[in-house]
Amino acid sequence: MTTKTRSNEEMIAFRKNHFLPTASLYHKEPLHLTKAQGQYVWDAQGKKYLDGIGGIVCISAGHNHPRIKKALAAALERDQIQHTSTLYLSDPAIDAAEALLEEAPAGLDRVAFTNSGSEANELAIMAARHATGETAVLNLRHSYHGGTSGTLANCGHHTWRFKSQPVMNTVSVQEPNCYRCPYQKTKESCALECAKDVERAIQTATNGKIAAMIVEPVMGVGGFITPPEEYFPVVTKTVHNYGGKYISDEVQTGAGRCGGNFLLTKELKIDADMVTMAKGFGNGAAVGGVLMKSDTAEKMTGRLYFNTFGADPHQMIQAKETMAIIKDEKLVANSREMGKLLVDGMLELQKRFGVIGDVRGRGLLLGMELVKDRATKAYATDEAVRFMDECKDRGLLLGKGGLMGNVVRIAPPMNITRDDVKFMLETMADAFTAIEKAFGKVAL
Ligand SMILES: Cc1ncc(COP(=O)(O)O)c(C=O)c1O
Repeated sequence: MTTKTRSNEEMIAFRKNHFLPTASLYHKEPLHLTKAQGQYVWDAQGKKYLDGIGGIVCISAGHNHPRIKKALAAALERDQIQHTSTLYLSDPAIDAAEALLEEAPAGLDRVAFTNSGSEANELAIMAARHATGETAVLNLRHSYHGGTSGTLANCGHHTWRFKSQPVMNTVSVQEPNCYRCPYQKTKESCALECAKDVERAIQTATNGKIAAMIVEPVMGVGGFITPPEEYFPVVTKTVHNYGGKYISDEVQTGAGRCGGNFLLTKELKIDADMVTMAKGFGNGAAVGGVLMKSDTAEKMTGRLYFNTFGADPHQMIQAKETMAIIKDEKLVANSREMGKLLVDGMLELQKRFGVIGDVRGRGLLLGMELVKDRATKAYATDEAVRFMDECKDRGLLLGKGGLMGNVVRIAPPMNITRDDVKFMLETMADAFTAIEKAFGKVAL
């Protein structure tokens, strides 16, 4: 229950005057969301929306899932200690760790919990540097790994960087983007030049040894850029040949959203030394995690890493219950099935609307890249913004991403139904028709 009822105008004015100017809002007429249940959210005026972006790719099991509510209510009722830190023994932390280890790729048998994806990545990068004694970290252009100093130093978007970055030894390598191949190759002529660029970067921009490479198996903020599966064995081998640790950032792809496994790293058999996660892992709770191989973890023996709220009981209860729901309700399979229906539907829309340049993603982590012209692939940024508003007006919330903000991002709670998919596709079709009216038709 909120303590005060403010108008949207009052809130916007307050934010303008007192929040940092870095805080942006979705939509021309920003929404004040107040209630949520399952895959739906409501605004302060009582209008219902299908949450097609799952918070920001955070709601995996569904908003306010009854089992999570029950588990948290029971914890409060029995006066479960809320804060312990890792300095005391705690069952909820071990419960969550046990559940996560069951889902871990082989060999990743050490766990640490944090409050966010940024912290998970900071810890992973620190561990890699400590274990290898090297400092250079490779990242991908168009990547995003968090809002802290170290993670922003590995960010591949100028828009997210400040004058203080980079403050560490980082090198950005070519992104594995098949729609806009940096080498102008097609699927047929691809020789994985982007993967080979990793070795060239190490040989030319580092001392010849690296601490780590950090990669999102589907690049979230970058606009759900989906690397070809053959990319990963080439890159992991190169990273290991040059002494580095491979960090798979599953903050967006994890929690089963990609439809094959709880972790995409496991599904794709990516030879990672560490996997980081957050967002859907806690279904909206502030919880992140790192899975690590023992040889990397052991190197930190004798050091102290402390995170005040990391692994606290309430977050751990929510993470563990989220994992149990995903398993019991078969939400990974549902992500795969509903994702396939959505992709099929979006490919049909692509035949009707020239503005849809590319449809991509995995499971329920899907993107549509909008272009002004299919031949030049000119970025349709204004069209993407307007498309989101058109969808919102019709009761569907979607996100956007990509360096130029022209990729529509779709990542609903993993419990969506066939009816929801039908509604999403019909709404998108109507919104695209409105876009054509406003901006003109793009040739097919
Ligand atoms: C792939 C990826 N890694 C890390 C982060 C940072 O997570 P957080 O915002 O929880 O710190 C994000 C956030 O969007 C992300 O998308």
